[in-house]
Amino acid sequence: MAEVKEIKINKNKNDIYILGIETSCDDTCASVVRNGNDILSNVVSSQNEIHEKYGGVVPEIASRKHLEMIDIVIKEALLKAGIESSQISTVSVTNRPGLLGSLLVGAGAAKAFCYFKNIPLITVNHLKAHIYANVLANPGIKGRAISLIVSGGHSSLYIMDEEFNIKEIGHTVDDAVGEAYDKIARYLGLGYPGGPVIDKIAKNGNPQFVNFTRPMTQSGDYNFSFSGIKTALIYLTKKNPDMLKEENLADITASFQAAAVDVLVMKTIKAAREFKTDKILVSGGVAANSRLREQFEIAGRENKISVHIPPVFLCMDNAAMVAALGYQHYIKKEFSDLSADVFSRTDF
Ligand code: KG4
Ligand code: ZN
Repeated sequence: MAEVKEIKINKNKNDIYILGIETSCDDTCASVVRNGNDILSNVVSSQNEIHEKYGGVVPEIASRKHLEMIDIVIKEALLKAGIESSQISTVSVTNRPGLLGSLLVGAGAAKAFCYFKNIPLITVNHLKAHIYANVLANPGIKGRAISLIVSGGHSSLYIMDEEFNIKEIGHTVDDAVGEAYDKIARYLGLGYPGGPVIDKIAKNGNPQFVNFTRPMTQSGDYNFSFSGIKTALIYLTKKNPDMLKEENLADITASFQAAAVDVLVMKTIKAAREFKTDKILVSGGVAANSRLREQFEIAGRENKISVHIPPVFLCMDNAAMVAALGYQHYIKKEFSDLSADVFSRTDF
């Protein structure tokens, strides 16, 4: 975790301070956001080092680690924001979708905070919060848009209206793209999470070294499939072990990444054209990927579509997006009961 620093901010008595809490997977996150768009603190305690030796998130370990960290992370978020707990107007917490044990820790902490401070609780959808990270980064974004969420658990396309009503139009039929990154990195012995390390290595590689098939580009729907590219990479390298030599890793990973990104960009642009919108919002951990950002920028320019992607720190799991989305519920007085449940899966 980053060093704790106290900061002085100008406070107005009408300011609304929201404490955001996010523990849906393996990052323990807390943030204080003022008036829905001013991030005063954004603390993320990563468990990557712990899960790395297992090659992926172990749910039981994740929830225990959240339990150990949640109090520390919340205190640090308040301290960094220069805010007393008595100044918090409401707590906004992710309660769906995610790992149940992990969600329960965040939800439990949020409820306890609300109970003792006698303030209302807000529960938010993690996926909606990822999309909302775009609005937090760029408050001017308005109107109908196609939204792509690419993370460790999701690769889905949505159409959303001006009121932020969201309807799914496609999803992965097997692995999420982040999952494919993580599984390939594990196979290649590159550690966990796979996305950032493959992103880095692939920068020096030739994306045309292997021409992997771009799955489902002709499927006529908005679904994705990523496990085929992963399997093709494994078969190919098992048949040609030389390809696994250190000097070929950049080319192999660049080729996988090019195929995955091509499909994501192609189908998202197709959705925007077919749904007649000139706006695309991309979010989720994989939206941090440098090739994906670059290719979306090119495709957006060529198709006269504005493509929005939040800064990298708002693409990854964080509680600022949860607090900011919570503000929208706060102004509409959409509160949850302290008996609110958590859900591993959910629709919008
Ligand atoms: O949104 P997120 O932080 O957590 C989930 O809700 O899943 O996304 C995590 C996923 C992991 O699969 C990780 O490997 C991937 O995002 N990821 C990346 C990059 N940074 C994180 N994938 C590709 N390139 C990156 N730079
Ligand atoms: Zn996420």
